[in-house]
Amino acid sequence: MGKGICRESMTNSESPLRPLVLASSNSGKIQEFKNLLSSMPLNLLLQPEGFYVEENGDTFSENAQKKAIAVANETGEWALADDSGLCVKALNGGPGVYSARYASNDQERIARMLNELEGVIYREAFFSTALCIASEEGEVLLEVEGVTHGEITVKPKGNSGFGYDPIFRVKSAGLTYAEMSLLQKSIYGHRGRAFMQLKPKLKRLLSG
Ligand code: IMP
Repeated sequence: MGKGICRESMTNSESPLRPLVLASSNSGKIQEFKNLLSSMPLNLLLQPEGFYVEENGDTFSENAQKKAIAVANETGEWALADDSGLCVKALNGGPGVYSARYASNDQERIARMLNELEGVIYREAFFSTALCIASEEGEVLLEVEGVTHGEITVKPKGNSGFGYDPIFRVKSAGLTYAEMSLLQKSIYGHRGRAFMQLKPKLKRLLSG
């Protein structure tokens, strides 16, 4: 039985499904998690309101682990956390784990990135997402990382998505993330790729 109070159970409390707390307060991300895990025998729960974990790790994987373990310890249930960011080769891999802190909103983050890369020819970059599931005892049960390679465009293109989407172009698709449909982004995107790795491992864990 959980210690902290999880919000919004999506099935009833008699459910035999495995409870899994989503360690995020970002509604877009929670929606994405729900869609990507909809076929799994899970009772998805939300982390306690106002619960906050500082993301001060040096890697995406460290931050995802930290959040999953903290939420599992708080709730006494399995917890799933992610951490993502954009790594630009001409910026020595930055902003990386500082992607959210690079500027105060999406528009300013994009403006700063284009400004820093002004005149730069070599614009290779990649997006990465680390996912981690921790057990009710706070032990890491599984971890995966999904990566999508691309380049930073010279100007923003496309109107969909969020964050750095309008300036991140996936070469194999010939499109920026912001020019992709949700289905295309789930196929080409770093988060979709991380979930593709997570699902078979999670299935084995649930049946094991
Ligand atoms: P988070 O760790 O997933 O919250 O992301 C950290 C930073 O990377 C935020 O500034 C996000 O806007 C950005 N980011 C993460 N995933 C994406 C994406 O799929 N598209 C664009 N920006 C993203």
